[in-house]
Amino acid sequence: MCQHGAVLLSPGVLDDLRHVLVGHDYTVDAVLTAIGAGAHAALARNSTVPALRALGDRDDALATVIRLWPLQSPVSRDAADAALPGLVDALLAAGLLAGDDRRVQALVDLRPYATEDADFLVWSDLTPGLDTQVAPMRPEYVLGLSSASSTLAQLTIRRPVGSALDLGTGCGVQALHLAAHADRVTATDVNARALELAAMTWAMNGVEVEVLDGSLYEPVRGRRFDLITTNPPYVMSPPRSAEPRLAYRETGSVADELMQHLVRHAGEHLNPAGTCQILGNWAHRHGQPWEERLASWVAGTGLDLHVVQREVLDVPAYVELWLADAGLAGSRDYRSRYAEWLDYFDQLQIEAVGLGWLLLTRAGRHDPWVRIEDWPYAVEQPIAPALAAEGGWVDASRVSDDAILARAWALTDDVVEETTGQPGAADPQHIVFRQQRAFRRAVEADTALAGVLGACDGDLPLGVVIDVLAGLLGVDPTALRVDLLPRFRPLIADGWFA
Ligand SMILES: C[S@@+](CC[C@H](N)C(=O)[O-])C[C@H]1O[C@@H](n2cnc3c(N)ncnc32)[C@H](O)[C@@H]1O
Repeated sequence: MCQHGAVLLSPGVLDDLRHVLVGHDYTVDAVLTAIGAGAHAALARNSTVPALRALGDRDDALATVIRLWPLQSPVSRDAADAALPGLVDALLAAGLLAGDDRRVQALVDLRPYATEDADFLVWSDLTPGLDTQVAPMRPEYVLGLSSASSTLAQLTIRRPVGSALDLGTGCGVQALHLAAHADRVTATDVNARALELAAMTWAMNGVEVEVLDGSLYEPVRGRRFDLITTNPPYVMSPPRSAEPRLAYRETGSVADELMQHLVRHAGEHLNPAGTCQILGNWAHRHGQPWEERLASWVAGTGLDLHVVQREVLDVPAYVELWLADAGLAGSRDYRSRYAEWLDYFDQLQIEAVGLGWLLLTRAGRHDPWVRIEDWPYAVEQPIAPALAAEGGWVDASRVSDDAILARAWALTDDVVEETTGQPGAADPQHIVFRQQRAFRRAVEADTALAGVLGACDGDLPLGVVIDVLAGLLGVDPTALRVDLLPRFRPLIADGWFA
């Protein structure tokens, strides 16, 4: 049985398989119900024992397919035939299952996946290292559904578009999402095995995708899209001449050069108003603020850039994360590999690694909007609607002082005001306005800003609000405008007003 290079199933077999699995209700919700939330969470941590116990001696078809795929357990040939009537031989012949007359087991994963509107089935390689086995990965390993893929899916702006590109498609999950709101979807990858499995994913879900084999923007040279989405192989691992790279997570590029390339050249592949959304990581190098490095990547491109750094890992934490990801925790050469990574980071003067999201927009501004922020706090998911609205908020913030003063602003209805102070004190020590939605931003306000924001209910122009407040506070209205406008303007760009 060949474990590498699964062969595409014929469209007829894929169709039959889909019908059978839909009939068994092989969906995210049904799996969750069958094994329970605790076992589901344990499975996400690669532990199968709670789920196997939850299924007990159930011998229905849904239990069989859960054992076969998510739990990677051998099932009897009889149970497999009962659950997948007439299909087991085709799956064996294609190298998707292994086995004999008595037992079969999966060689490739097939998982249910759900969006708000639809249920899907997604092919990928089996999750390695279940139940803490040491399981080094093969170079052409095709990553399945992951927390990174769902983060990118939640970031991706879902406005209807003509064309979308899923760069580095892997198991094909981003293209599944894109097909729901793009007239034409193109997907690329350098890993032939990924393209094969992704093609089965799309065929099984009735989604049409243009497939291009090639690296980064090469296969789409000279072409432009309304939306580009990518969770690229961004891991900054040291070169190992003796070993091929793990295609799903690393390339031959040095440090974060791959991210730089994607950012610098995004504009060449975007239609006017098009967006490129990237999930990735970047180096914090000695002696250069990370924000400056990232800002330099869009210099001269004319693109708007919003970077949200969600997490910063120190170098050892980063190394441990990716050694464990490659199934090397507990391996014989763990220590020497760890040292190799540390040498590499020292040599590149990398002190830490930032992880997060980039939104690039071909907004066509004379003066591009660049916002690079560290925002590790919980945000409302999906965050995409807030990202989609940003361009409009920025426009609204970039008008003259007179236009801002003439508008009757209304805070969005999720904003709350929190005051804290000593019990019994006449005035609060701190006044904080906090969004309950989207980025859940907060702003500390002094009495003047709190007075203005408290009056922003859409009734009176800001200029009038400030004048009334100046009267109440006994201060000069012109001075109060000069004080408040520079603090009010960024709130407009941050989406505080409806
Ligand atoms: C982290 S996986 C992401 C898979 C999938 N898009 C997702 O969101 O889960 C990165 C993918 O990029 C592919 N890849 C690796 N090097 C590439 C390159 N130079 N150009 C395009 N894709 C590449 C890998 O084969 C892998 O499928």
